[in-house]
Amino acid sequence: MHQYKVFVTRQLPASLAPLEQIAEVEVWTEPQPPPHTLLMEQAIASDGLLCLLTDPIDSAMLSSATDLKVVSQMAVGYDNIDIETATHLGIPVGHTPGVLTNATADLTWALLMAAARRVVEGDRFTRSGQWNTWDPAGLLGLDLVGATLGIVGLGRIGTAVARRALGFDMHILYTSPNPKSPELEQELKARRVKLEELLAESDVVAVHTPLSPSTYHLFGDRQFQQMKSSAIFINTARGSIVDPAALHRALSTGAIAAAAIDVTDPEPIEVTNPLLTLKNLIITPHIGSASHATRKKMAQMAIANVIAGLKGERLPHCVNPDVYRQSVREER
Ligand code: GLV
Repeated sequence: MHQYKVFVTRQLPASLAPLEQIAEVEVWTEPQPPPHTLLMEQAIASDGLLCLLTDPIDSAMLSSATDLKVVSQMAVGYDNIDIETATHLGIPVGHTPGVLTNATADLTWALLMAAARRVVEGDRFTRSGQWNTWDPAGLLGLDLVGATLGIVGLGRIGTAVARRALGFDMHILYTSPNPKSPELEQELKARRVKLEELLAESDVVAVHTPLSPSTYHLFGDRQFQQMKSSAIFINTARGSIVDPAALHRALSTGAIAAAAIDVTDPEPIEVTNPLLTLKNLIITPHIGSASHATRKKMAQMAIANVIAGLKGERLPHCVNPDVYRQSVREER
């Protein structure tokens, strides 16, 4: 019998052996996330929780789980976890930054190029038997070389997306709560602007900001109307940053030319959702980090975070380092 008990909310693409050396590990093996009541029971009975972005870790759960020493999320985003409550309770929360930056930037570019050159539409056109001739005016798209790319949130992933744009001689505009270093701005040839200017000037707008109360529905009717009618909108961050009804209006009225999104609100998107009827929208099922090597690294990182949390060591990648302040620990 081990001293600790850990609940893992899905089968992971990495070995649990290092964790099993110090803890009794129970893995939820169904393909769908564990039901909320079961997750609650498991959280209450556990010292550690290794979870995914599909698991809501709310205030009631954290407050009831009095033995919980660590919550380790296998994702860089953590908007499904009530961080404020976790911090208040002195529970460190881990995440997996860095290892998925390139994979997510690659998918952003895959979507960007697919939307710019109408790849998915072209595939449907071919399969449906409409390819009758070479049409001088058929399926025309956007040239990316020399175009302006507006990056909303120049963090790790936004920066990696911008680096790839250098190969296309694109002009980079960005928004960010704080200016980036002059060295980075110079390397990326990037200029920080207000959101209104970014929307008005960009040929492609890509969202790379975390979801928070201040970015919830950041994109609504007004923002889409401020964009060029030829513009392409890309979102590989979180679905709720965009008002889905406003995106539908923008794409169906021609306020913008096209969009490609890897995230939706809600997730998964219902098959009856009107967005799925739009030809000028590409939707992928939240696969930004979905490469073999990246998902393995994410799982390994999440395992390392949970092990550190059980041992009372500082998590290698902690979302709420405030838990390590003496005052918070004493209050617990
Ligand atoms: C995926 O969306 C992540 O946050 O890692």
